[in-house]
Parts: sequence; structure tokens; C-alpha cells
Amino acid sequence: MSEIMTSEIKITKVKESRVSQVDLENVTMGFNFTDHMFICDYENGEWQNPRIEPLALIPTHPAAMALHYGQAIFEGMKARKSKNGTPLLFRADENAKRLNFSADRMGMPLFPEDLFIEALKQFTAIEKDWIPSKEGSALYLRPFMYADEPFIGMRAATKFKFMIIASPAGPFFSRKIKLYAEKKYVRAVNGGTGEAKAAGNYAAAIRPTEYAKAKGYDQVLWLDAHDFEYIQEVGTMNIFFKIGGKFITPSLTGSILSGITRMSVIDLLRHKGFEVTERPIKISEIIVASQNGTLEEAFGTGTAVGIAMIEEIGNNDLSIKFPLENPVSIMVNDTLNKIKKQEIEDPFGWVIEA
Ligand code: COI
Repeated sequence: MSEIMTSEIKITKVKESRVSQVDLENVTMGFNFTDHMFICDYENGEWQNPRIEPLALIPTHPAAMALHYGQAIFEGMKARKSKNGTPLLFRADENAKRLNFSADRMGMPLFPEDLFIEALKQFTAIEKDWIPSKEGSALYLRPFMYADEPFIGMRAATKFKFMIIASPAGPFFSRKIKLYAEKKYVRAVNGGTGEAKAAGNYAAAIRPTEYAKAKGYDQVLWLDAHDFEYIQEVGTMNIFFKIGGKFITPSLTGSILSGITRMSVIDLLRHKGFEVTERPIKISEIIVASQNGTLEEAFGTGTAVGIAMIEEIGNNDLSIKFPLENPVSIMVNDTLNKIKKQEIEDPFGWVIEA
């Protein structure tokens, strides 16, 4: 049990919800925010004052260390509603663990995992009217932590905030995506911060993604920083290939984020009887599979996106097209979505009520 008893979360609700002003069935993730936010402060070596309050601007000192040195991490998760309207969370325990993995890597304090889950449950229950019900839609939850100590000096901060905000989200990519196999910029290096969900990883990806989009692609296919040969991630997602009836995905060798959708897809595919191997994958292997006719499909996995089918990987020297006949990814996406909404049995015990 954490030092802070979870029942101590202080709740101040808005007088009137803004939810009726938003068309929940036609929303784009990240534009609208729910009525409340969860906040907890870290000071004098402990987390204190957990509270749910009306969403508001947060006063930030211009010397807050997150603004200067990037001690900032986040999580992404989605809440859905069951048929009878119960708000549901998916594998929140894994998000709690990964937040703390990231916190440790970035020199930040760990957040008590039981408080993380209790805060999410209480917050989601309060915001349940904001959960869209259209197929593929959900309430995107964004837990995050940042250094808010005002200090201009290079060391770990001693004051932090952990917060949760939420934004109703429609389906992300509703079409197949084209990837630019990036051979100049890298997302992460072994020993770097690529394994952590650190804000700076995403900042480093912004300009290369803009360049890829200007060339007509949707996302960047990130390759390893040493040889530009091993496949790592795609945009903000993990990647899977199906070759000769079997699935492969890059192993987590130190620079790849351990996606919760990734781990769920591995378990689900195995449960359905498919062979899935986690190992290093060279882009040259995908080219060979494409040439000898064994390349069947590829898809990206992530919380925000869900499962995104890949139709092409290319750059100036390369164009790999995916046949995508009867893709298994459609079944995986459908099954996962049904598990998440308790429409079918959850054989893994992944779903909890908020
Ligand atoms: C998520 O899938 O939760 C992400 O982190 C993607 C986000 C950067 C939009």
C-alpha cells in the first residue's frame, strides 16, 4: 500500500459539465478536454495532496525544470463503456509499471502504483459521460509527470507534479498507412531514453515526421541508430510483420518502447494459435520476403492508434508494398476492441471497472 491512502483523494466537482457542448460521436483526439483533472504534488520526498479538481490552467514558474531540462514523462490509455454503461479500463497496471520505469530512467520519483490505479478509476468514473460509444472511439486518458521545481541548475528536480487529464477520441487512422524508412534521423539509441515514455523522444520525432509527410508518407519507420538496418518502431507505434504465416516483431533491445498494445497483440495472436517471435528484424529481410512472395501483412500497434494497417514502406531507394489479403490484423483489432468493451469474454483478465 502506498503511503498515501487512496481514499484520501479530495474531490471538487464542476458545477455544470461541459459535455453537452461536445459532439462525442465526431471528435478528434486531443482537442476537447473533460471537466476535471487529477493532480498530486511531490515535495519533501513524498507524494501528497492527491485531488480531482475542475480542469484549469496550472501556474508554472518560468524556471520550472521540465521546461528547461525535459524531466517529463507520460502514459496513454483509453477508457471505454460496456453495453450497460460501466466505464472500463484496459491493463492500467501495465501503465502504472511503465510510468515508473520511465520515471526511474529520467531521474524522477516513482508514483505509487495503487494510487495510480485508484486515481484513474475515480477520475474515469467522474468523467464517464465523456466516454464516446461509437465503434473505435474511446476516452483517451493522459497520465503524466513533470518537474516543476523552479531551479536553473543541472540535477534532478525535487518537486514534481503527477496529473491525469482526458480527451474524447474518435478512431485514429481510419485508412492504411505509408511509412517512410528514415535513413538520416533516428528516434532512439541503445542506452538512450527510447525505452522510456519521455516527452523528449516525441519532440525529436516531430521534424523528421514533417519531412516524411511532405514526401507523401503518413509516418516514419524508425531504424536503428547504428546501421539504419534494424526495424524499431513506426511513428508512435510498435510494428508487426506476417511472413509465411508467422508473426514477427522487433525484440525490446533497449531503444524500443514496450507498448501495452504490443504485449496484448502478442498474447492474443498466440492465444489464437499463431506463432509470434520477438527478435531483431532487418529491413533487408522484409525486402527479400516481398520479393519471394512470403510477405503477407504489417501493422502498427499503439494505444492512441489501436492497430494501423501498413500498405507500403518506402524511401528514395525502396518501395515495399503489402498485399494485405485477408489481414489477420482486422481480426486482432476487432477482438481486442470487443475485449476492451466486455462484448466478449476477456480470457486474460485485462479489463477492470472504473
Ligand atoms: C499513445 O499511443 O498513447 C501515444 O503515446 C501516442 C501519442 C503520442 C499520440
